[in-house]
Amino acid sequence: MFKRSVNKLKPQVLIDCDPGIDDAIALVTAAKYTEIIGITTVAGNVPLESTARNTLALCELLELDVPVHTGAAHALQGQLVTAEEVHGDAGLGTLTLPTPRKAISSDDAPAYIIDSIGRHEKLHLVALGPLTNIAHAIQRDPNIVHQIVDLTIMGGSAHGIGNITAAAEFNIFADPEAASVVFSSGVRLNMIGLNLTHQVQMGLAESKRLASKNTVVSRAVAELLLSYQTLIYAGNLSKTVPMHDPCAILAVSHPELFTLTHRNVTVETNGTYSRGLTLVDERRVPAESNCRVAYEVDSKRLIKLILNASMI
Ligand code: BDR
Ligand code: CA
Repeated sequence: MFKRSVNKLKPQVLIDCDPGIDDAIALVTAAKYTEIIGITTVAGNVPLESTARNTLALCELLELDVPVHTGAAHALQGQLVTAEEVHGDAGLGTLTLPTPRKAISSDDAPAYIIDSIGRHEKLHLVALGPLTNIAHAIQRDPNIVHQIVDLTIMGGSAHGIGNITAAAEFNIFADPEAASVVFSSGVRLNMIGLNLTHQVQMGLAESKRLASKNTVVSRAVAELLLSYQTLIYAGNLSKTVPMHDPCAILAVSHPELFTLTHRNVTVETNGTYSRGLTLVDERRVPAESNCRVAYEVDSKRLIKLILNASMI
């Protein structure tokens, strides 16, 4: 099996996502700062059909010629949790993109993930949605966890902050069993949770700057931002919104801007009120941890990077 040569400047990434407004901004960011080898989609913010369509349409907007594979339409135990109230019925707020010309490359995202890991020596896996596809891939071939550089997820939270429930972050809550498979798999795991992403906020000032740049991509990101604010704050544009998924991309491309600490993290799969909680043991830094949790970030630099990526 041949291994592709590695681009020294930009990290090679395989992105699993559920676009999703902030996933879309994350893809814009990734197109600038990483070498995307492929994208897999999962049901999450909206059902699978919409996350696939949005991903294909975003690739065409960004002139990204990469394979897109679809994966799980529901969580490991069969449930489907979506978030149209935050992302709009079609997943990208009021942004409408032309019908994509390209089709998906397959409907077996886990097989594509396993195959890609075999073909790329220094691959970073980045997960921006529920962890269902990643868990399926690990269950099919547990050895993949030792063959990637790392897995960086937007998901969970330290300090017990939730968004979909008081205790749980959306991506973990949508499939806690999958998250549990991932956290106990032995993979080198970086957790970019709500405690971190809430530090990186954008709002009206940024969307005005992007709109005035007046390129196809900058106008699209400006509209995504406005939609996000409108949906989350019922039209109150004075409030800013967190850049969840772009943070996970930038943690891979610009790790020097983040502070991560080794922790043991357990996913609650049973609690009546706490299902989907990521229980981060902060009592001490353990000798053996299953995760590196992001705590601090240079927010100003991150916002500049996201704006820079969107100004094309
Ligand atoms: C996460 O959930 C989704 O709604 C966003 O796209 C992000 O991945 C934030 O909790
Ligand atoms: Ca997402």
